[in-house]
Formats: sequence, structure tokens, C-alpha cells
Amino acid sequence: MFLCVSLNPAIDRRVRLERLRVGNVNRASGACPAPGGKAAHVAMVLKTLGADPLWLGFAGGATGRQLIEGLQGLSIRVHQIATDGCTRTNLEIVEDEGCVTEILEPGQRISDEELRRCEKTLKNLLSEASEQPTVILSGSLPEGVPVDIYKTLIELAHEFGSRVFLDTSGEPFKFALAGKPDFVKPNRGEAESWSGQTIDNPTAAKGIIAAILNAGAAAGAISLGAAGLVWHSTSGEALFASAPELSVQSCVGSGDAALAGFAFAAQKRWPAAEAVRLAAACGSANCLAPGPGRAGAKDIASLKDQIRVETLA
Ligand SMILES: Nc1ncnc2c1ncn2[C@@H]1O[C@H](COP(=O)(O)OP(=O)(O)OP(=O)(O)O)[C@@H](O)[C@H]1O
Ligand SMILES: [Mg+2]
Repeated sequence: MFLCVSLNPAIDRRVRLERLRVGNVNRASGACPAPGGKAAHVAMVLKTLGADPLWLGFAGGATGRQLIEGLQGLSIRVHQIATDGCTRTNLEIVEDEGCVTEILEPGQRISDEELRRCEKTLKNLLSEASEQPTVILSGSLPEGVPVDIYKTLIELAHEFGSRVFLDTSGEPFKFALAGKPDFVKPNRGEAESWSGQTIDNPTAAKGIIAAILNAGAAAGAISLGAAGLVWHSTSGEALFASAPELSVQSCVGSGDAALAGFAFAAQKRWPAAEAVRLAAACGSANCLAPGPGRAGAKDIASLKDQIRVETLA
């Protein structure tokens, strides 16, 4: 079982334009709203892989209803923490020549009472589960939520024997490491800003992920977009996965898809190389999908055969 926790969910709206003309009227050729926020993307990919994830998160207003109905429409189990504020919308503008612009709303302010309800619900779900779920904590934090909330939630999940996969950035990431997450997946920019160092090749990524492990995570990977990803375990083993050349729609959500692959493989106790291959295939398949988190099972299967996994010395 997977429990995907979304503190700052969204409706994703991908619009297509021939070209974005800043300061002008732009007419989109298509728009498709879908459940969004990183944890929803992870849940969607887990579902595609054949798992039965449960999404837990805040949702309010008409967009909140749209989010919940969208997840349920994908047969994803949902546990909503109803909020006074409205769920945000994240806009993704995809131009015909491939340029992608994202406009991300900050998200509604969460009250102390809403946060307490969320923590209590997570605790109940963990204590009632017949087998300990893998907990996925993904995304930015909305206003009203303490910056060290992920540390608190990691420690709570660990009390119940659950493993925690974490994907966030900036200060929330720094604070969360003290909670000792079982797996982290920053992308290149996030890992660079955490370390203050440039990552211009897989070996540099290996050095930074090793430092992140020293700071508290048990294992992790740094995703490098079209340059693949680097995985590192506590035992010192490091693997690189290549990324196939693709005719990309948009890569927004590819890191979330990769995290779903890692979590799925970990629960199946796959060998590291197979876990890394699946994660990279999920990330790449997301680039071909109609929206973030919508990677297709066939694309994942065929891309797995095209990905090279090798040991990093
Ligand atoms: N252009 C691309 N071509 C092929 N594969 C890609 C491409 N971009 C990403 N991938 C695959 O997806 C993985 C995750 O991508 P990326 O590093 O962009 O994640 P991210 O920045 O965390 O994304 P997000 O936060 O939007 O989910 C990469 O490690 C790679 O395996
Ligand atoms: Mg990411």
C-alpha cells in the first residue's frame, strides 16, 4: 500500500499555444484540467504501475471538488481534508516548439485546525493499516504549514514502521532531512541549491547525493532531466541510468513519475538496477504523456528496454 500525502495539491491545467506572446492575447488550442500537485502525480503513476495508492490531502472549493473527482475518476482512493480555502490551479503553457512555461499558484492558507486534522488522519491511517504503507511526501508547502512539517510526518510514519519517500525542495527539504527519510529525489537544480555546488555530470551528482545521505537520508537519487539520473544507497553503491532521446511533449512531473517508480520497485524488493531502470522509464514516459503523472504503461514498458543502467565508480 502507498499513502501519497499532498499538503499543497492543485488542479493542473496544461494549455497548448503555437507561441507564447507575452503582453498579448494568446489563444490556446487545447486545455485539459487534471488532478495535480506532486503527490497526485505519484499516485497516478503508481496506479498505472498496478498499485492501489491512497491519496491524502487538503482540498477546498470548486477546484477541490474537481481534484477529488478527478482522482476518483482514475480509481485512486482519496482521503480529503476539507479546507475553507480553494485548491489552487497550476498552469503549464506548452508551445509548439517545445518551450514550457509554468505558473504555479502559492496554494491556500492552511489553518492550525486543518493541519491538525491532516496529522490525525495520517496517524489513524497508519495505525489502522494491516500492512505498513510506504508513505510518499511530495511537494511544496502552503502558507500556514510549519517549515519542518515533513520532519514531523517522517517521524510519525517511522513510529508506525512505514518507509518514507520524500520529494520537496528549499527549506522544507533541509528541515526534512533531519527526520531521516528513507529515500529522497531532488532534481539537479534542487540538489545544486541544497549543496551550493554545480552538478555538470553524473559523478558530480554522485558526490552531492552522497552528501545528502550524510545529512540524513537513507538512500536517494538526483534526477538530471534529459541527462538521466544517479541513484545512491547507504552502502555506497551508485548507479547511473541514461535517458532515451524522445519527442517530448513536456517533462513537468517527470521527477514525480520517477519517484513513483522508485517507491513501487522498493515495495516489490526489486534489485537496485531494476528499480533505477523502472524509475528512469517512468520519468521518460511522463515526457510523452498528455499531462503530468499520466505516463502510459506501454511507454514505460518499452522505454525500460532503451535505458542503460551502469555502476558509477
Ligand atoms: N527530456 C527528457 N528526455 C528523456 N527522459 C527525461 C527527460 N526529462 C526527464 N527525463 C527522465 O525523467 C527523470 C526525472 O526528470 P527531471 O529531472 O526533469 O525531474 P524533476 O525536475 O524533478 O521533475 P518534476 O519536479 O517536474 O516532477 C529524469 O531523471 C529522466 O530519467
Ligand atoms: Mg521534481
